[in-house]
Amino acid sequence: MQPAPNGVTVHSVDVSQAATPVRPESTILRRLPVPLIFLIAFGLSFTLIYRAAGPIPLLTQWSRADSFDLDKERLARVLKASAMEDNTVILTTLNAAWASNGTIIDLFLESFQIGNDTRSLLDHLVIIAFDKKAYHRCRAIHSHCFALATTGVDFSVQENFMTEGYLKMMWRRIDFLRIVLEMGYNFIFTDADIMWFRNPLSRFFPDGDFQIACDQFNGNPYDRNNRPNGGFNYVKSSKRTIKFYKFWYSSRAKHPRLHDQDVLNIIKFDPFIDKIGLKMRFLSTAFFGGICQPSRDFNVVCTMHANCCIGLNRKINDLSVMLEDWRSYMALPAALKTSKMPVWRVPQNCSLKPLH
Ligand SMILES: *[C@@H]1O[C@H](CO)[C@@H](O)[C@H](O)[C@H]1NC(C)=O
Ligand SMILES: *[C@@H]1O[C@H](CO)[C@@H](O)[C@H](O)[C@H]1NC(C)=O
Ligand SMILES: *[C@@H]1O[C@H](CO)[C@@H](O)[C@H](O)[C@H]1NC(C)=O
Repeated sequence: MQPAPNGVTVHSVDVSQAATPVRPESTILRRLPVPLIFLIAFGLSFTLIYRAAGPIPLLTQWSRADSFDLDKERLARVLKASAMEDNTVILTTLNAAWASNGTIIDLFLESFQIGNDTRSLLDHLVIIAFDKKAYHRCRAIHSHCFALATTGVDFSVQENFMTEGYLKMMWRRIDFLRIVLEMGYNFIFTDADIMWFRNPLSRFFPDGDFQIACDQFNGNPYDRNNRPNGGFNYVKSSKRTIKFYKFWYSSRAKHPRLHDQDVLNIIKFDPFIDKIGLKMRFLSTAFFGGICQPSRDFNVVCTMHANCCIGLNRKINDLSVMLEDWRSYMALPAALKTSKMPVWRVPQNCSLKPLH
């Protein structure tokens, strides 16, 4: 859910599906029809948060041309340089607003530094920059950067949330990830407002094709009624996953006003999924937690997401609190780590309430 540089973005997961932060069982928002939620979101002239895509520039061109030029050779080089031995890469996207000094991207990278055994994962992280500022910042602070842009695009042009161009761009990400799969790479896609505290690889299902974190997890990793959050997923490159990403992408035509995330919630029940034999797995919030449903046990948590949170500053605040909480936990003597059972002090500022 990256906010637009102009401060107007929306968090589809948070707004359309998630419960209030402290009462996951609340379904008020979920019951609101999606169009109404969008209207509400439009009414807010400040930073709302959209889940993963967000970054907003460049759209004038994208509205004109429906395809984007991808420097595949360069992408191949970046992926090769960053992949793990089994051809897995970690991918995140970045836009100008999240790229500034002291904002989301710094917290994200810091989590890898203070997480347990996560620092070496930075070698496998590729930051996909959606605009020039994000790309330059990436180059300054990280070794694997890729600019996903269209040729001839005016970087200074910005588009607002939910315009035609905005939606196109979010879908671009799905299309881009399909290309990564076609190039033979598995990926862990992570929003940058997810703190990495432990290496998640051992928590994935060995037989899963498409594994996704949840805002709300109901205890059954096979149950498609779980509320997935597209901000974190692990996808293995195979014929099945490539077909699935094509299907997902093409489904946007049927649901032209919806985000990739909302469309996923519709197509996850489609018989096509079983027909192609895609093994979908929903990841437990015990390991992949968030503000919607925090991971309870510091001794097993891998990641924490600032989902269920509207507003960039609120997000930054609560992510900083998460990092502090983690530091305090790591500083505990080993015996206390298991006996004391620390709890997260979030949400503090994070909330689905609109800003003023
Ligand atoms: C980022 O901001 C911090 C203080 O908030 C400052 O110490 C640091 O030098 C800045 N880094 C860059 C690259 O501007
Ligand atoms: C950190 O990781 C090491 C090895 O991977 C493990 O032995 C240790 O228990 C972990 N510490 C915590 C606090 O999880
Ligand atoms: C976070 O909450 C505290 C206390 O309620 C408040 O003082 C502060 O301004 C808030 N910060 C943000 C960024 O909303």
